[in-house]
Amino acid sequence: MNINEVGATALIIAALRSQEDEVDQPLFSDPYSHWFVNEEFLEKARQLREIHPGIGDMVRFRTVMFNSILAKSIRDGIKQVVAIGSGLDMRPQIVKSDGVSFFEVDQPGVLDFKRSVLSQHGIDVPASVACNYLEVSLPERLAEVGFNRSESSLMIWEGNTMYLPKNLIFKFLNQICDGIEKFDLTFDYIPHGLLDGTYEHKEVIEYCDNVQKVVNAKFYSGFDDLREIEDNTALKVWASGNVLDIGKQYVDEGKQEAFRYLEDEPSAFISAYRFAHVKKA
Ligand SMILES: C[S@@+](CC[C@H](N)C(=O)[O-])C[C@H]1O[C@@H](n2cnc3c(N)ncnc32)[C@H](O)[C@@H]1O
Repeated sequence: MNINEVGATALIIAALRSQEDEVDQPLFSDPYSHWFVNEEFLEKARQLREIHPGIGDMVRFRTVMFNSILAKSIRDGIKQVVAIGSGLDMRPQIVKSDGVSFFEVDQPGVLDFKRSVLSQHGIDVPASVACNYLEVSLPERLAEVGFNRSESSLMIWEGNTMYLPKNLIFKFLNQICDGIEKFDLTFDYIPHGLLDGTYEHKEVIEYCDNVQKVVNAKFYSGFDDLREIEDNTALKVWASGNVLDIGKQYVDEGKQEAFRYLEDEPSAFISAYRFAHVKKA
C-alpha cells in the first residue's frame, strides 16, 4: 500500500463534490471543495462517472449519508468528531456546531496542502494528527491534541477501508478499541468478492478494476460479511446497508426522480458499495 497514492484520491473525491454545483438536483453543498481541485482532478472525477454514472452517484450518496449520520449524532449529543483519513473533507466548517470539537487525521502532505489552501482564505483547520494512522498509536496522538478518550465520539472513516490491507485494518481497530473508552465508527466498504473475482456480477468487478485505474490506487480489502469485524475486534455492528439505498433514504422525496435509473440496475450493482455503523460500547 502506498499512502501517497491514496492521498491523491482525496483530490478526486473533492473534485466530485465540487461538481455538485453543476447538477440539476444538488444533494448537498460543499462550497470549499473547488478551492482544492484543478482540471486534472476534475477530469478524473468525470472519468469515474464515465465508467458508470452510478459510481459518481454512490460518492454523492455516501456524502449525504455521512452528513446525516453526523447531524444525527450531534443532535444526540456527541461532542467529539474524528475524521480518520479526512482528506479534503470540510464538514467541520460546513457543520460548525457550538460545543462540538472536530479532529482530523491524515498524512502530513494532505493536511499541509489543506492548511495552506485554507489559510489563503483565512480559514483555520481543526485539531489534527498528521501521520500514517496504521503506524502510530492513534488514541495517544489524538489525546495529545485535545481528544478526550473517556467521552463519546463519532469517528467517520470515509473512503478509506478499501485502500488498506485487512490485517492492518483489524490491528488498527483493535488499537482504537483498546485506547478509547467508547465511540461510534462509521465507514464505507466494498465486498471482498469484487477483489477476488467471486462477486456474482462480473461487470461490477470490471467497474471496480476501472475505478482503481482512474484513481491510480489499489484496493486491498473488502468484506463479504461484517461478522468478520465482530469476530476480530471489540466492535458491534449497529447498522449497515448499501450506500445507494441508504443514501436514497436521506435524499429528499422531490429529488428521488434523478435516481430511478438505479432501480433498473441489477442488485449486485447496488450492493457493491456498502456502509457500516459500528459501536464500541
Ligand atoms: C479517498 S480519500 C477520502 C478522503 C475523505 N475522507 C473524503 O471522503 O473526502 C482517502 C484519504 O485517506 C487518507 N489515508 C488513507 N490511509 C491512510 C493512512 N494509513 N494514514 C493516513 N491517512 C490515510 C489519504 O491520505 C486520503 O486523504
